[in-house]
Amino acid sequence: MRTDVLTPTEENLSLAAEKIRAGEVVAFPTETVYGLGANALEPDAVKKIFNAKGRPADNPLIVHISRVDDIEKVASYVPDIAYKLAEKFWPGPLTIILPKSEDVPKITSGGLDTVGIRFPSNPVARRFIELCGVPIAAPSANLSGSPSPTTAKRVFEDMNGRIPVIIDGGECKFGVESTVISIDRSTVKILRPGAVTDEMLLEVVDSVIIDGGVLHEIPSGQKALSPGMKYKHYSPKADVTLVKGSYEAYSEYVKNNPKDGLFCLIFDEDEAVDGVPYVTYGKDSETQAHRLFEALRELDERGARFVYARSPESTGIGLAVFNRILRAAGFKIVEAENE
Ligand code: TXA
Ligand code: MG
Repeated sequence: MRTDVLTPTEENLSLAAEKIRAGEVVAFPTETVYGLGANALEPDAVKKIFNAKGRPADNPLIVHISRVDDIEKVASYVPDIAYKLAEKFWPGPLTIILPKSEDVPKITSGGLDTVGIRFPSNPVARRFIELCGVPIAAPSANLSGSPSPTTAKRVFEDMNGRIPVIIDGGECKFGVESTVISIDRSTVKILRPGAVTDEMLLEVVDSVIIDGGVLHEIPSGQKALSPGMKYKHYSPKADVTLVKGSYEAYSEYVKNNPKDGLFCLIFDEDEAVDGVPYVTYGKDSETQAHRLFEALRELDERGARFVYARSPESTGIGLAVFNRILRAAGFKIVEAENE
């Protein structure tokens, strides 16, 4: 299959929307990461997403809409609190899990009775979904297990020959995937942290809890609330270790634990450690979110076999950054201390 990369003109978006109506898969930009979209209500089309990504069938897809009212097309019940959250955070990087309507096939929801719903803010995404005229199921546009793509070039590397169209909307604004929440009466539970933070959610609801799966490995045999959380995710090919501590403690750890094919993943202002090659990923939580996935892909390109990653702050959007690196590291974390 030939894969066309299209600029987001109105004409090209119409062409891409036609592909969707014909049951094909189209990659498109959002404010978080690129998505791999298909008609969420059409099982055969959704199947093509799972095939293109190599995604396990029990990992549900997020359904994207282009107006708040469309929530009723995909959810069977919408509590008031969901409308309040939608009013405050939509369009934007928040996915709300609700009981699914009968129109949403089980393949889209990974066999669950619930569905994750999101109204993205990226103008290209909004216009594209609007032109499609149907809700769009879209996971991140990477091969299953790879870091999510934040540029069309990275989508092309993973999806060339697998899908007919990629819409190139430039770099994604946030760089980490949306915040995924479930609702239980007046309590919101964060299943996956993102740019909509716990503090922001507390402006609308009385109580926000962070699911244990965000910071801890789910023991084998235990059911994950968000099935995506049980897979080793966002991983470069290298063996990543997350190293906590000051720069001094970090650099000492690197010197004391040398390895063949080792790279450092450090902050912009950090100095290289004694000739160990390095990749940087930003200077504050926002820029770290924006750059992390690109940095992980760069480490692969440069042939890194081992990576010592400096641990980010885990407040605000930093919690999303920490959560993604922790998964890239397969939960391997060390506390470096000054000697
Ligand atoms: O920012 C985003 O959310 C991007 C863009 C394209 O919108 N999409 C994305 O999709 O990250 P994906 O499929 O890569 O991640 C969706 C996550 C998975 O961890 C999945 O398990 C969880 O959301 N999820 C989806 N539906 C769910 C449901 N009904 N119940 C629990 N978790 C759900
Ligand atoms: Mg993903």
